[in-house]
Amino acid sequence: MPTPNIKLPNMDHYWVPFTANRQFKAMPRLFKAAKGNYFTTMDDRQILDGTAGLWCVPAGHGREEIAAAVGNQLRTLDYAPAFQTSHPLAFEAAERVAQYMPAGLDRIFFTNSGSESVETALKIALAYHRVCGNPLRNKLIGRERGYHGVNFGGIAVGGIAGNRKAFGNALAGVDHIRHPLDIVNNAFTKGVPEDGGIALANEFEQRIMTLHDPATIASLIVEPMQGSAGVIVPPKNYLKRLREICTKHGILLIFDEVITGFGRLGTRFGADYFDVIPDIITCAKGLTNGVVPMGAVAVKREIYDAFMENSAANAIELPHGYTYSAIPIACAAAIATLDIFANEKLEDRGASLSGRLESAAHSLKGLPMVKDIRNIGLVAGIEFEAIAGKPGAMSFATYLKCYEMGVHVRYTGDIIAVSPPLTIEPHEIDRIFSTIADAIKFVVAAGDAGLDHTRYLKNEQDWAMHQSHQAHINHPILEHLE
Ligand SMILES: Cc1ncc(COP(=O)(O)O)c(C=O)c1O
Repeated sequence: MPTPNIKLPNMDHYWVPFTANRQFKAMPRLFKAAKGNYFTTMDDRQILDGTAGLWCVPAGHGREEIAAAVGNQLRTLDYAPAFQTSHPLAFEAAERVAQYMPAGLDRIFFTNSGSESVETALKIALAYHRVCGNPLRNKLIGRERGYHGVNFGGIAVGGIAGNRKAFGNALAGVDHIRHPLDIVNNAFTKGVPEDGGIALANEFEQRIMTLHDPATIASLIVEPMQGSAGVIVPPKNYLKRLREICTKHGILLIFDEVITGFGRLGTRFGADYFDVIPDIITCAKGLTNGVVPMGAVAVKREIYDAFMENSAANAIELPHGYTYSAIPIACAAAIATLDIFANEKLEDRGASLSGRLESAAHSLKGLPMVKDIRNIGLVAGIEFEAIAGKPGAMSFATYLKCYEMGVHVRYTGDIIAVSPPLTIEPHEIDRIFSTIADAIKFVVAAGDAGLDHTRYLKNEQDWAMHQSHQAHINHPILEHLE
């Protein structure tokens, strides 16, 4: 929503990911700089970052320590082949990540994104059972409304229909357990819901395992807190019970911690928050504070050892890897980020601010259209009543109004998600939620006009651009979740 006379780039060539391109190009929101908890827009407005980028900037923007580490590394060793050679920083980064992981998950495979971490984890699970002599354990179980990135394994175990249906059948041998959101019984719960966890987890054993011989299931993958599908906080004891069931049946439990890792819940990982140790953890995003693409998969030492002990001598134990696995600048960024976490105790900061965020978020209860509010650590989700025939319209309109008022939030389906950097100040938390409240009141008061995104096209130039893209717009509201 730039003001007049801002020179926009030619927008024809860039295919913007997970974005309604025609709509966005008619009404772009472009940042040209970022520092601390704020973005600067093309027209020099400061926008408070209520989402830590895409959940990936826990230490705040523009960290000089990371910039210096990356710059120095780039000038020293820009690249070393990732296969058959390596470089010392890869080993140092792996050691640091291992030390940051829950005890026992100390063998680290590096990737370049959350999606690649998920694919890697699923492949390790399948290959692990093979290398242990159990090739029939080849089914992958995910969860409804799970988001595990965009590659084929991830969309197969993922449970967001909009992300799958355009691509046909992703993988065979996949099934899903139920998601734990129970608005009927748990609406407006502060933090973790008390009841229903054990019964819900038991469904895994009762329902899925009666359909599939448990001895054919390789792994179960879940996000400790489902972020992209709209902040779904699992009930008490649910993850613990899933752990018990997996252990009983020899199924590897994978926690996808791409969002919940690196302090988001006020602990290092969701595993720490819920006191449940999975067999494999996937992470990315906060690992480098979002500045260089990097992901990691941490596996229990026994899993790594099984590959080493059971593979033929001199064989490649895991035929898998990426050209950019552990590239020097990513390792430098990860180490600098872990230093910041250690020096600033960012997880503790997140934990100490979570009460403030909880009160601020739940102060929105009672506003029109607000159907549920959920929170945990430094995350909150505000779910709206769906408007018939207009899925996501309310959240999109609220998001746009917040942006106009200088606060960046996320919308996903009928939900607004808030996940600020762990460096956020208490008064900034208050501002995020008071802005959302004002935006909701504005949108509701304006009725249909409030839901019309074209109201934000401010000048003739924007209108002309809008009209030129308008011809192609057939669904103005994003229906995909990410
Ligand atoms: C739980 C989870 N897994 C995987 C991913 C995919 O990560 P990326 O976008 O880095 O591929 C995400 C992204 O939001 C995520 O939330």
